Amino acid sequence: MHAILTNLIQPMSLTGDLKSDVHTFLTANGSPHTATHCMEVGSEARRLAERFHADPEAAEIAGWLHDISTVIPNHERIEAARQLQVDILPEEERFPMIIHQKLSKVMARDIFKVTDEEILNAISCHTTLRAKSTLLDQVVFVADKIAWDQTGTPPYIDKLTDSLNTSLARGAFAYINYLWERKETLRVVHPWLKDAYEELVADFGG
Ligand SMILES: [Fe+2]
Ligand SMILES: [Fe+2]
Repeated sequence: MHAILTNLIQPMSLTGDLKSDVHTFLTANGSPHTATHCMEVGSEARRLAERFHADPEAAEIAGWLHDISTVIPNHERIEAARQLQVDILPEEERFPMIIHQKLSKVMARDIFKVTDEEILNAISCHTTLRAKSTLLDQVVFVADKIAWDQTGTPPYIDKLTDSLNTSLARGAFAYINYLWERKETLRVVHPWLKDAYEELVADFGG
């Protein structure tokens, strides 16, 4: 394991119980708010997986782990990504917050020993989605938007909830479309988000 990651698990001992280990990891590294958020996204992802016939276990695991890289401060993320051999896009270099999805994937694999590629990929695209997204990608993406990490009610929630009554992909599109309508206000438009938007808008319209 890379020294960057070893340092993060130094202050704690992992028990093998993933849910509590993720919670401990986040709180021990000064991110109790993210710990709560990750637990909530895990529960929401399980619910969505049950509703839309994805794998509930996998969904819950991806939800717990999706934001674990929050423990790496924003200004250190690009350098961490470089050292961990994560592929860095120009948009990520300009707005490092957005690379946390890829860093969480590496940490889930190297620290928490997740080997299931489906889970790792769902973690890796939870902020932007991607082209040809899987059912599990969509479950985790939507769960993170329902159980969002800010206070109050998400402004897109009614549209998203309505759309879920049609399908999971419609729900994912409702959120992406919401972002797309505001894309001038976004710091960057990540190419994976653009790919996902173009694919879904072709199916569902703008
Ligand atoms: Fe995130
Ligand atoms: Fe999140």
